Amino acid sequence: MAVGIFDSGLGGLTVLDAVTKRLPEQSFVYFGDNAHAPYGVRDADDVYGLTTKAVSRMWDAGCDLVILACNTASAAALRRMQESWIPADKRVLGVFVPLIEALTERSWGDNSPPREVEVKHVALFATPATVASRAFQRELAFRAIGVDVEAQACGGVVDAIEDGDLILAEALVRSHVDALKRKMPNPQAAILGCTHYPLMHETFQDALGADVKVFSQANLVAESLADYLQRHPKMTGTGADSLFLTTGDPRRVSDRATQFLRRRITFEAA
Ligand code: SIN
Repeated sequence: MAVGIFDSGLGGLTVLDAVTKRLPEQSFVYFGDNAHAPYGVRDADDVYGLTTKAVSRMWDAGCDLVILACNTASAAALRRMQESWIPADKRVLGVFVPLIEALTERSWGDNSPPREVEVKHVALFATPATVASRAFQRELAFRAIGVDVEAQACGGVVDAIEDGDLILAEALVRSHVDALKRKMPNPQAAILGCTHYPLMHETFQDALGADVKVFSQANLVAESLADYLQRHPKMTGTGADSLFLTTGDPRRVSDRATQFLRRRITFEAA
């Protein structure tokens, strides 16, 4: 059975890359909703509608387990989907929990009460919709106390990356880091809370300074998925080639994806 990786566009390829390296035998279906990216400037109902449509398509493609690599979808739609929409034989997982478990030094699925942790000042970089949802702070509060989170909505960065304009993306990242530092001069850790931002990891690290521990999700999600599949072997599947679906122009999306991952990726119309 293929595992689905969903993103609003190309950024989720950072997650796909990490999970493919961690689980080389596993088959994946990647769905990029490029026609509707970015999600980060949409309202919660809109994100919910688009995300449920895409996940239904991935179920039709044979994925009983779908990971919402898109932070905006994880933040704005996942809880609502889990409450009333996902049937009992399907699973949809988000990307915040593995990140927060790493930040708070918890092992997978540790549901013990919130406790004091070493990191006290955390900078969160995310899309405007993710910041507005406060989903990161809500999940963190289940696990840690006494952590000050300063969130910076990074308008424009996803568009610049989707357009392949990395010079503009770098300039925007630096200005968003400056804005964050005016509110929190000395963060101890920074969360790259958007699938696209790992592509700018070096710029974030450089602008924040070497003392700041920068967490990005791809490897953490890969570890968490490996753990999950070990506990739920029925969800695993091997043997089939991975499938890449897009709501955008397959040729254009394939070219961009190939540029990002530095290996040939061929998308089909979703
Ligand atoms: C976006 O679609 O705006 C970015 C994806 C994300 O939030 O991870």
